[in-house]
Amino acid sequence: MKNTKSTLSGKFYSADIISLDQFDPVTLKKLFSLVPKMASIAKNAQPSKLLSGKIVTLLFYEPSSRTFASFAGAIKQLGGETIDILNPLQFSSVSKGENFEDTIRVFEAYCDAIIIRHPEIGTAKKAALIAASVPIINAGDGNGEHPTQALLDLYTIYEKYKKLDGLTGVMAGDPLNSRTIHSLIKGLSLYKNNTIYLLSPKELRLNRDDFNSYTEKGVKLIEIYSEKEIPKNANFWYWTRVQKERFKDKKTYEKVKDSFYLTSNLIKNFAGKDTILMDPLPRVGNIDMSVDQDPRALYLRNQIRNGMYVRMALLSLILNKK
Ligand code: NCD
Repeated sequence: MKNTKSTLSGKFYSADIISLDQFDPVTLKKLFSLVPKMASIAKNAQPSKLLSGKIVTLLFYEPSSRTFASFAGAIKQLGGETIDILNPLQFSSVSKGENFEDTIRVFEAYCDAIIIRHPEIGTAKKAALIAASVPIINAGDGNGEHPTQALLDLYTIYEKYKKLDGLTGVMAGDPLNSRTIHSLIKGLSLYKNNTIYLLSPKELRLNRDDFNSYTEKGVKLIEIYSEKEIPKNANFWYWTRVQKERFKDKKTYEKVKDSFYLTSNLIKNFAGKDTILMDPLPRVGNIDMSVDQDPRALYLRNQIRNGMYVRMALLSLILNKK
């Protein structure tokens, strides 16, 4: 039987990972303490045996490159195997009309954990309730959450500042629809004295329920609608794309899609010498390529590498009793 407690409290073995709500600072510290070891395993030519004999299903109903590949890489670095189901709506029995419950039950029988990405909010949780024996990891549920992305984002911030409290950050783009923003705000709300400036067009600000529930957790959220209001010298900028696939009305998308474009000039005017520049990627009309040369730009460097290391750490804890 798997661990179905709603909070992890440092106990990862056989647990579902659905939301940042399950975490607390002690649990994150335990996970992060393993990351340097995972980095050295990944750099070593010999795969580790931490997941040997383990099979993990990657069940992705939505396109993915980074998340899919970094999970697959993480599992293989640790000596495990994957069953890769990309686009089940086209390539599996789901296309014949199989219901979600049966799909989960079938894969549950073949493997030791299921990593799922789905366009509908709440689907990972639904899968976790169906799968009685194997843990479910949410790799993005619609415009809900993307917990493992937030774990690697938090680690990247932690790696730079050696702390996760007392920070000021800017999150730009699409707070309404970006699941990576949702999970990262929840993650930062676990620590004291964090302030986040949310920069977006008015149409894309957080929905009021999310705004209120995040604020109740203690994080200070300041919504801004113009680049001129970006605070000077923030600790990090997190620049997301506008989430085209979430728009019912393409006209609205066209109107807001290029609202905030990160350029070297903007960095010169508002960033500090230590401000790290992050993006969960893919970059689609949100960051100018010239910014890539800036040593503060971590989206194609630490953030990517940490993605695999953090997922290695997470899977090794979930799939090993000790
Ligand atoms: C993000 C996602 O899927 O939510 N991508 C990712 O996993 N790194 C961000 C995005 O698609 O914009």
